[in-house]
Amino acid sequence: MTRRMLIAGNWKMNGLQGNRQEIDALTSLLGGHAPDSLDVLICPPATLLADLGRDCAPGGIKTGGQDCHFADCGAHTGDVSALMLKDAGADYVIVGHSERRADHHEDNALVKLKAEAGLRAGLDVIVCVGETLIEREDGRAADVVKSQLLGSLPDGASAQNCIIAYEPVWAIGTGKVAGLHDIAQMHAHIRAVLGENGGAELAQARVLYGGSVKPGNAKDIFVLDDVDGGLIGGASLKAADFAAIVDAALTVVNHNP
Ligand code: 13P
Repeated sequence: MTRRMLIAGNWKMNGLQGNRQEIDALTSLLGGHAPDSLDVLICPPATLLADLGRDCAPGGIKTGGQDCHFADCGAHTGDVSALMLKDAGADYVIVGHSERRADHHEDNALVKLKAEAGLRAGLDVIVCVGETLIEREDGRAADVVKSQLLGSLPDGASAQNCIIAYEPVWAIGTGKVAGLHDIAQMHAHIRAVLGENGGAELAQARVLYGGSVKPGNAKDIFVLDDVDGGLIGGASLKAADFAAIVDAALTVVNHNP
C-alpha cells in the first residue's frame, strides 16, 4: 500500500482577513491547483476557517481546525466543537499539539477524547506527539512518544482517518531540526507501535514530521522511509515557502511513484 503524502500548514494564532491573499498566492504558485498525487492542507485559526475554506476549495487545498472540544455541543464558553469545524468546511482537525498540551495542560486522555470527537464529526484527525529536550537528553524520547501514542489514539483509529504528527517540542519554532537519523528512527518506532496495537492496517497510517521544516530541509526529511509529509508552522504562513515545501514533497513522490 502506498501512503499518500500530506503537507499540512498550521497557522497557529496567526492570520487576519488580509492574510487570505496568501491562499491566492499559494494556489497560483502551485500552478492553479494542488498536485493530484498528494494532499495539501491549511489549518488556519477558527475565525478564518469558513472564509479560507472557500478560498482554498477551487485550488483543491483542504482546510482543518487546530483543536476541538471533546463534546459535540453544550455550555463550553469560547470552545469550538469538531462538528462546528466540519460545518465550517474542515476535513481535518489537529489534536494534542504540544502547545495545547503545555499551554492548556491537555493530557493524553483529553487528547484521545478530542480525537474521538473529531472522528464522530467525520473529520480526519492529526494526533501530535513529541518529546521535550530533557526527555530526549535523558534517553526517554521513544518511551514518551509511545505512551503519548497509546494514550491519545482514538478508539476507531484507522489508516484512513488518523494521522500521526511527530513534533519534537524542542524543534518547534526554534530553527533546530531533529537529525535525519533521529527522525527516521522515531518514525519507524511510531509505525511499530501502531502495528503492535492496531495491526497491519493502522501501521499504514500517515506519519508526518513537524519542527522547523523549511524549503531548504524539506526534501531531505520527506525522502525518509517512514515520513509521509510534514506539519509546517512558521513556513506555512508565507505562500512562497509553503509552495516550495509542497514542491519538495512532489519531487519525492515523483521519484517514488
Ligand atoms: P514550526 O514549523 O514553526 O517549527 O512549527 C511546527 C509546528 O508546531 C507545526 O504544528
